[in-house]
Amino acid sequence: MTHVDLNAKIPNNVDLGEDKRLQRALEQWLPDYLEWWKQMGPEGFQEKDVWLRTATSVDAEGWAHFDYVKMPDYRWGIFLAEPTSDRRIGFGDSMGQPAWDAVPGEHRNTLRRLIVTQGDTEPASVEQQRLLGHTCPSLYDLRNLFQVNVEEGRHLWAMVYLLHSQFGRDGREEAEELLQRRSGNPDKPRILGAFNAPIDNWLDFFMFTMFTDRDGKYQLLALAESGFDPLARTTRFMLTEEAHHMFVGETGVERVVQRTAELMKQDPNEDARAQGGIPLDVVQRYLNLWFALSLDLFGGEISSNAASYFAAGLKGRANEEKFSDHLALADGYRMPVVRDGRLVEEDVPLRNAMNEVLRDAYVEDCQRGVDRWNKRLEEAGVSQRLRLPSKRFYRHIGLYAEMPFDPAGALLAEADWDRRRDEWLPSAEDKALVASLQAMVREPGRIANWIAKPARGIKGLPFEYEYVRLD
Ligand SMILES: [Fe+2]
Ligand SMILES: [Fe+2]
Repeated sequence: MTHVDLNAKIPNNVDLGEDKRLQRALEQWLPDYLEWWKQMGPEGFQEKDVWLRTATSVDAEGWAHFDYVKMPDYRWGIFLAEPTSDRRIGFGDSMGQPAWDAVPGEHRNTLRRLIVTQGDTEPASVEQQRLLGHTCPSLYDLRNLFQVNVEEGRHLWAMVYLLHSQFGRDGREEAEELLQRRSGNPDKPRILGAFNAPIDNWLDFFMFTMFTDRDGKYQLLALAESGFDPLARTTRFMLTEEAHHMFVGETGVERVVQRTAELMKQDPNEDARAQGGIPLDVVQRYLNLWFALSLDLFGGEISSNAASYFAAGLKGRANEEKFSDHLALADGYRMPVVRDGRLVEEDVPLRNAMNEVLRDAYVEDCQRGVDRWNKRLEEAGVSQRLRLPSKRFYRHIGLYAEMPFDPAGALLAEADWDRRRDEWLPSAEDKALVASLQAMVREPGRIANWIAKPARGIKGLPFEYEYVRLD
């Protein structure tokens, strides 16, 4: 396997020490990064010991090492998955040709934009979540939040390495700007919409890690197919970290649902709210919101950009090897489009539908999670169920943008939609309820009333473990 130099100033498995110019450039970026982390990372916990995992190798077995770390001392580094010998481009017009080790001139601008757009989401989510620690439902959850945060910071490193190593001066400028934009700042916002919405409660956080991090997974899967090999190898390793983020989201919502079901059973009117829990209809509205915001991140249903990324071999489909036709020139992709105020099915040339192909794989993955939540409800004897809204509901990008579709996917009159909005999206009242439940639980082994304990702790440790030392 490739050697991981953990003692270097910047831990890496890319022989950074061999390239003094690059090493120097990244070492100059490092203090700016740390400055950003101190300003915009988790507020109020920088000096605390947190039980974190750190990458120490990139092979499947035991890449992670667990120990108490103060977050600013986390070993952020550059880790690429193992190279595949004689790797070939697996799709598009250059299919079968050797993958590129260096960025090809004709794709330079496109690749830079793809890398910057992906890279921008990483620090953005840290910024969105920076105050959440003060209302953690348990130390276990607090530790998971910080684990996600430091790894998003590392994902920024992963993208910045590509910018510095492959894009010269433009790349270094982009790397600086990644530290200058700020989530939600009207003057210099983060690039994508969902990354400018604040995440100021834990229900938002769990929905974000369930749905928005999962968009990240699918973007990374598509980039892991890239003919630009350093990007493919970087994203492959990022995916191993990303899996934990989605675990946090999926099990987080699951534990909320489980607790709500328990509280319903304790109440004479099956009223979770009366017992200090979050009612299922409120959970459903948060689900609707974050699912819709995350769907937008895949881009338009019909996209000439997506077609050209695919044609050029820059961005493939998730798990491209599962498809039989890697040229995608012969087929179409069926989707409902609005014509004269009505939905009609139309065939879109497959390459132009690549965003939708990726989105559909994502939706299927989300559905698996929702099924798991519903299983908990079934086991608890609660008859209500959660469901994913239609892909057309509350969209701001693409074919259905700004159109009044209800969660079942029916097109309504604008006024009807407006009147019924609070049935489908978090209302002021819902937000007040969720906010009222946010209070820090700081004793090891204790948990807030509105969420169930996890089935197990981290890395074989019990839930009661002191995952963050607060004193
Ligand atoms: Fe990430
Ligand atoms: Fe993530």
